[in-house]
Amino acid sequence: MSDNWINYWSKKNIWSSSPLWQKNSIILYNFSQKKFSLKNKKILDIGCGSGELIENILNDAKYISGVDISKNYVSICKKKFSKYKNIKINLFKKNYKSLNKLNKKFDIIFCNSVVQYFTNENQIIDLIRSVKKVSTKGTKFLISDIMDKDENKNYIKFILYSFVRGYFLSLMYQAIILFLNPKYRNLENDYKLLEIDTKKIKNKINKLCKKSVIIEEPITINVNRKHLLIEF
Ligand SMILES: C[S@@+](CC[C@H](N)C(=O)[O-])C[C@H]1O[C@@H](n2cnc3c(N)ncnc32)[C@H](O)[C@@H]1O
Repeated sequence: MSDNWINYWSKKNIWSSSPLWQKNSIILYNFSQKKFSLKNKKILDIGCGSGELIENILNDAKYISGVDISKNYVSICKKKFSKYKNIKINLFKKNYKSLNKLNKKFDIIFCNSVVQYFTNENQIIDLIRSVKKVSTKGTKFLISDIMDKDENKNYIKFILYSFVRGYFLSLMYQAIILFLNPKYRNLENDYKLLEIDTKKIKNKINKLCKKSVIIEEPITINVNRKHLLIEF
């Protein structure tokens, strides 16, 4: 399954730099500022996409590393951030198993809206193991936008939040783009996105980290999704 998704993301697609993704990154950035300071921190963005989150954090961070499996996104980000000496973008193979090749340690690590494209939950545990190798004591790792097995698909809440937070029009625009470009929807039908038992993952990683919490607040536009904040 994941290879089909990797092929999809590796080519030009309808999501790059979309207004909805930009809004999503602002919401995530605002949340993270409440949970931990980003000032002068070394930050890793795993599955950085077209770099919307990096755009939000670049004024705070000491150093940013963005990694993705998509040649398309890596080349977009390399161009976008070429004038910043403290931002490095690297192409990785699927599931980011060898993050230690970055030869860096990070204070804050993000991975937003990525793990649903993995093949199974073991790949998420492998990712956490790989992240541990580039972490120090106190490093925080936020896996956000998790499609949980028990997700309560509350579409009214989804639409209501888009009004309240001011991205209803961006949502409608992206819905039209999605309707006119069926490739993503067809893939989703053929290769279902991974629904995750977040509680099980939390229990399995007990020995790998100092603590972990499941966040149920709506910290992304997908207001029904869950998030896992891990501290090493
Ligand atoms: C929905 S986008 C999210 C991008 C970015 N994190 C954001 O929040 O805007 C999903 C990202 O995951 C990456 N990705 C997709 N499938 C993957 C896989 N199987 N392994 C690793 N990364 C994957 C894609 O290249 C893409 O950048």
